[in-house]
Amino acid sequence: MNDPLRLYVNVDHVATVREARRTDEPDPVRAAVLAELGGADGITVHLREDRRHIQDRDVRLLLETVRTGVNLELAAEEGVLRFAEDWRPMQVTFVPEHREEVTTEGGLDLEEASGRLLAAVAQMRAQAVRTALFVDAREDAMRASAALGADAVELHTGEYANARTPEGASAQLGRLRDAALAAREAGLAVHAGHGLTYENVAPVAAIREVEELNIGHSIVSRSVFVGIERAVREMKEIVTAARNA
Ligand code: PXP
Repeated sequence: MNDPLRLYVNVDHVATVREARRTDEPDPVRAAVLAELGGADGITVHLREDRRHIQDRDVRLLLETVRTGVNLELAAEEGVLRFAEDWRPMQVTFVPEHREEVTTEGGLDLEEASGRLLAAVAQMRAQAVRTALFVDAREDAMRASAALGADAVELHTGEYANARTPEGASAQLGRLRDAALAAREAGLAVHAGHGLTYENVAPVAAIREVEELNIGHSIVSRSVFVGIERAVREMKEIVTAARNA
């Protein structure tokens, strides 16, 4: 048996459907309960500054009801940081945020944002909140993340997921492996996510240094057809099998 791999389920898209009508269903809090029953090891939500999907109320209720742990994604900006300081989730993952984007597009620009990130990481650590930085799979980003005081990096798997050929995917997987090793050498825990699906997740789950996956779109998409509990269970089976292969 290899080191265990945690599956964190991102339920933002449940809130996206709700916000399409600005009503009260479907509820991401109910989705989180069912995701946990399906074997999720944690629940991830992104509290965007523009509140396009997850609302403050969702985070508050999730923190009261989730039995595993809440990973709160947020930009290192004052308004949302104040909430995180009050709410003290188990973990925050700092992500870049741009108003026009459909979803988080790239990893953090650690150089441009270093001052803000250094302060934000320290602010969260002072509340005993674990911190992760969402970064591109580059070795220099691992050293920079360690210098900022983070506990973990989340490797951006988007370029791997978007590769159009097997050769391209294999090259991107190599980058992820190298970055995961560099992160561990720098003393960081390694997470990964973005664009992972039932079809492409196994090679990432097999990277031994990776201890946490964050997956949203693919799981919520499947849940429309099979229900979220089963969708999570099926993803959990795939990542567990890949890790133990
Ligand atoms: N990790 C981060 C930092 C993200 O911003 C997102 C998207 O919200 C995910 C993981 C999940 O990506 P996906 O929805 O493509 O699984």
